[in-house]
Amino acid sequence: AIRDKKELYFELNKKAALFYYGMLSKKEGAPAVAYFKERQLDGRCAKFYTLGYSPNSRTALLDYLKGEGYKEEDIFAAGLASKNDSGAYFDRFRNRIMFPIFNANDKAIGFGARRITEDVNPKYLNTADTLIYNKSKNLYSLNVARRSKCGEVILVEGYMDVISVVKHGIANVVATLGTALTSDQAKLLKRYFNEIIICYDSDDAGLEAKKRAIMLLRDFDIKVSVMTVEGAKDTDEFLKKYGQDRFLALINKRKSDLLYLMDIFGAKYELQINVEDRIRYVSDLLPYLAKVKNDVELDIYVEEIARRAKTGAQAIYAQLGKTRVVKG
Ligand code: GTP
Ligand code: MN
Ligand code: MN
Ligand code: MN
Ligand code: MN
Repeated sequence: AIRDKKELYFELNKKAALFYYGMLSKKEGAPAVAYFKERQLDGRCAKFYTLGYSPNSRTALLDYLKGEGYKEEDIFAAGLASKNDSGAYFDRFRNRIMFPIFNANDKAIGFGARRITEDVNPKYLNTADTLIYNKSKNLYSLNVARRSKCGEVILVEGYMDVISVVKHGIANVVATLGTALTSDQAKLLKRYFNEIIICYDSDDAGLEAKKRAIMLLRDFDIKVSVMTVEGAKDTDEFLKKYGQDRFLALINKRKSDLLYLMDIFGAKYELQINVEDRIRYVSDLLPYLAKVKNDVELDIYVEEIARRAKTGAQAIYAQLGKTRVVKG
């Protein structure tokens, strides 16, 4: 009966997505329509991703689903309602832009929900984990990306980034669901793609997330590269500012993970003269070098780092040996 429960929750999430989508053509949906317009989300985007609006009401979705014959406990267990201290149910999502999340087989499993006014927190509210929704085991738009017949997939930070990229004709793009990339997500990506192109935001958080994603993906033996949306805070903003051709150029200019790291760490240091900087440069890169399994690939990177830090490859190998001994 677990299987039946899952089917029921898929169905409830699908009904909810269509309910929220339907709000866009009702009077209550006006704030969402205005928001969509401001962010250049047109009717085609909304239809393709079944984007919608959760009305500013305590029980609009509950009332609708109960009217369709569903039980409150099931609506709650499907992640669509919350319960207060006295046991009364109310809609989990209110006055938000709704992004339905589908699994790889197109089943609706949950939602990301964005505020439309700045005075509400959090910015994004997601479905809490349920029998069918686990934020660390799914990826936004994987159902679309996996059918793109592309070997590479672009990994962006957010829903809006994915939608912008797809709107510009590039379907092989996914986002995590508000968390750092997980091992389960890496495994999923490896199943469908042979190269992950990381395209995270330009802020410090984006940089840290890139470094962590590289470390994680290296363990899964997937080719990893990085592109940088320079001149914009994220992918969505980049596409709006510079358009599709400049974005395609960025994809073509992507760097392998290690070359990317050599460049960004290099920019922090004075590699021409400063001895301490040159030492730090090498030690910053060691944890990543330790993840490189192919001996030839490793040798190419070690040689390049040695050249940039003006040291010898032997010395870097020696350092790496030490690291490896410590890490077992
Ligand atoms: P916009 O401001 O709508 O363009 O969103 P963004 O995607 O640019 O936001 P940001 O770069 O801050 O976050 C990237 C992604 O992280 C979002 O798409 C969400 O999935 C997630 N995220 C951001 N803020 C929150 C939050 O407050 N709570 C949760 N659960 N997830 C968040
Ligand atoms: Mn961000
Ligand atoms: Mn962003
Ligand atoms: Mn954004
Ligand atoms: Mn455009």
